[in-house]
Amino acid sequence: MNLARFPRIRLGHMPTPLEPMENLSRALAGPDGGPNLWVKRDDCTGLSTGGNKTRKLEFLMADARNQGADLVITQGATQSNHARQTAAAAAKLGLDCHLLLEDRTGYTDAAYTQSANVMMDKLHGAKVSRRPGGADMQAEMEALADKYRAEGRRPYVIPGGGSTAIGALGYVNAAQELVTQASDMGLRIDHVVHATGSAGTQAGLVAGLVGLNSGIPVLGIGVRAPREKQEASVLALAQRTADHLGLPPGTIRAEHVRANCDYVGQGYGIPTQGMADAVKLVAEKEGILLDPVYSGKGMAGLIDLVRRGHFKPGENVVFIHTGGAVGLFGYPQAFDLPADAAA
Ligand SMILES: Cc1ncc(COP(=O)(O)O)c(C=O)c1O
Repeated sequence: MNLARFPRIRLGHMPTPLEPMENLSRALAGPDGGPNLWVKRDDCTGLSTGGNKTRKLEFLMADARNQGADLVITQGATQSNHARQTAAAAAKLGLDCHLLLEDRTGYTDAAYTQSANVMMDKLHGAKVSRRPGGADMQAEMEALADKYRAEGRRPYVIPGGGSTAIGALGYVNAAQELVTQASDMGLRIDHVVHATGSAGTQAGLVAGLVGLNSGIPVLGIGVRAPREKQEASVLALAQRTADHLGLPPGTIRAEHVRANCDYVGQGYGIPTQGMADAVKLVAEKEGILLDPVYSGKGMAGLIDLVRRGHFKPGENVVFIHTGGAVGLFGYPQAFDLPADAAA
């Protein structure tokens, strides 16, 4: 797979580190030991505090530029990491950016509605407009794009999460990077686990890892949709991505796509106790910050699966840290932190 055939603008710090999480592995090991947990630090991609969208945006923004765009429109939840990284990429490339933020949680506190990612959207100079929960966000973006076109502008519309066959190339790139790192280190990777939402990350990883004949299975921990729906959208996008890459038809099959959506809780963006415990444990054991909406729930799933013996002792499990820690500041109420100590 020669990704150099596809237009790309370098935006991120790559390759991202692949590191052992020895303390977390030890903390979760049972009497017979446990898996070796590793983390691929895609929270360190650099652009506006980093995260998984940077990889997708390298390919999407190149497409926008090739189409002569002068403005980028995208959408996400109020605390969207994708919106924040898109705003940053647009700023760096001298494009205007208009974000449509959907109220998926109903939270009205200022921390959620104005701080964290929303604050950064505005620091990067993006225009922010709000839409109610359940709005048809793709239609809202198209209507906004039509308005701009009528004014003589050339908007480029990025679907939620940047999850198109072009955006998913960013995670084909991550798959190549991971396989190269692992072979350089002599590391046999038995499983890759990460949080899955709009499907582009998992679709790109699956297309890349299957296309490379790596034999490494990917498990997506869902943050919104039920399992059947999530697996169907990942499969469809992985197949479109494989087509875009020119892989032979039939390369990506249903058995390559696995999601576990048991850790969503009450809904998208609504904190769970498992997420809060996972964020705290990883912060304390590894000095790594996860996020409340995606990587925290993804890690809650990984921790629970380790405790249930889903992975064999000695297996190497790589968690892709997809970023989003900025979102912690939008959810101060989700963590039961101690009062200041008297000294
Ligand atoms: C921090 C973080 N992790 C994971 C995801 C999920 O990635 P995808 O939407 O490609 O499934 C997102 C998407 O917004 C995210 O912001």
